[in-house]
Amino acid sequence: MNMSDAPQQLLAIDDDPQTLMLISAALEQDGLEILTDGDVEAGYVTFLRVRPRIVLLDLAMGSMRGMELLERMIHADPGANVILTSAHYSAESAVEAIQKGACDYLTKPLDIKRLRDRVAGLIAEAETRRKTLSLDQELLEACQFEGIVSRSPLMLEVFAKIRRVAPHFKTALVTGATGTGKELVARALHRLSPATKDRFVACNCSALVESLVESELFGYVKGAFTGANQDRPGLFESADGGTLFLDEIGDLSPGTQAKLLRVLQDHQVRRVGSTVRRPVDLRVIAATNRDLRTMVREGTFREDLYYRLAMVEIALPRLEDRREDLPLLQRYFVERFAAEYKRQIAGLTRRAQSRMATYAWPGNIRELENVIGNACMMADGRFIDINDLPERLRELQKDYPLTDEALFSLQEAQRRHIVRVLERVGGNKLRAARILGVGRNTIYKLLSRMKLEEQNISA
Ligand SMILES: Nc1ncnc2c1ncn2[C@@H]1O[C@H](COP(=O)(O)OP(=O)(O)OP(=O)(O)O)[C@@H](O)[C@H]1O
Ligand SMILES: [Mg+2]
Repeated sequence: MNMSDAPQQLLAIDDDPQTLMLISAALEQDGLEILTDGDVEAGYVTFLRVRPRIVLLDLAMGSMRGMELLERMIHADPGANVILTSAHYSAESAVEAIQKGACDYLTKPLDIKRLRDRVAGLIAEAETRRKTLSLDQELLEACQFEGIVSRSPLMLEVFAKIRRVAPHFKTALVTGATGTGKELVARALHRLSPATKDRFVACNCSALVESLVESELFGYVKGAFTGANQDRPGLFESADGGTLFLDEIGDLSPGTQAKLLRVLQDHQVRRVGSTVRRPVDLRVIAATNRDLRTMVREGTFREDLYYRLAMVEIALPRLEDRREDLPLLQRYFVERFAAEYKRQIAGLTRRAQSRMATYAWPGNIRELENVIGNACMMADGRFIDINDLPERLRELQKDYPLTDEALFSLQEAQRRHIVRVLERVGGNKLRAARILGVGRNTIYKLLSRMKLEEQNISA
């Protein structure tokens, strides 16, 4: 359904019929569909049924306080815009309302002009949000390469390289931290290669039992060892004509490394126990999250094998180094899991988004995928909110409560935020600068200014 075609709905809940009439009269002309309810319970039922974008809610009504209803509404639909109204203004309840997710607090008697302006503002905001959502959608479609989602310059280089080497390569090495998409890249290389057969055989080298590695990779003949009751081809032969993916190549023993190198050079395999060499024609893609160059220096990985593999090397950046991809990936995974779980989930609340934006994502895209997958299962409204995120993200930098002591200046907020980010990245100023989206000079300037201020305070 196109949201712009649906009439905008506003629900007013108030036990005073006159206020309800006033609100209806005041807002009707703005092309809104106005729904009214005279009590809290009926109002909540209407809210759940209609899911109006805007709610006007009276704070003091009968048995359940407006504040409780506000909480229930925001819990059910964090995207709802709830404006509280009250005849008795208190700074305390205004702060509480905003903290609980209300978007405004108006005093009674209602200032009609102010009310209309505010509602018009919310409608305009919803429209912009809808537009950016569909823009995001277009962007997402434009930023996919063989199922790999990204718009970061680092990844665009990777895409270009895949396109360039796929038609010709025989061996390739894909490196990157855990969860950065190494297997995805390997599959893309395979799909774009002129492999004669659509065979992609994946082998996790770290899961191979040392004594069986050779027979797994190269096969064996009947009687080669106890239990070898018949001839069996190995993974190289199974992948013949296609691609063999050797994952976690850094975990291969030196002996196996030597045999692997031999096959890569000769394009022939010899089954264990056989003297016959069989020709194989395939592409080999190796992957690792270890630093093979260091392993070569330390003597745990063969230099000649490394150079053979690294003729084509594709290095994947961490998610931290391509934060601009977060919104795209969030959208991609929300769509995927919402469809998979058959749930109506439109996206993430701004709070959840900003919480995710400050997290370090050590498990990279796989971790993000899991977080969003779980959240899509947990969320009970249309939007994923902070409560749907795992503890490590919820715990992160808890929103400071907006008590009177917490009402400080923007400059102070900036200072505290910088300090927090610096603590989080272990004082690494370059990383902090990147997270904060400022240049490294800016961060040095900010820091020296903060230092000066501290001196002023202590002086
Ligand atoms: N750019 C991306 N766009 C969409 N999905 C991605 C992207 N990168 C990774 N994924 C998804 O994240 C998960 C992890 O990717 P993949 O298995 O390729 O990572 P990996 O580098 O092999 O990880 P590991 O080192 O843990 O084996 C997969 O489900 C994959 O589909
Ligand atoms: Mg992998």
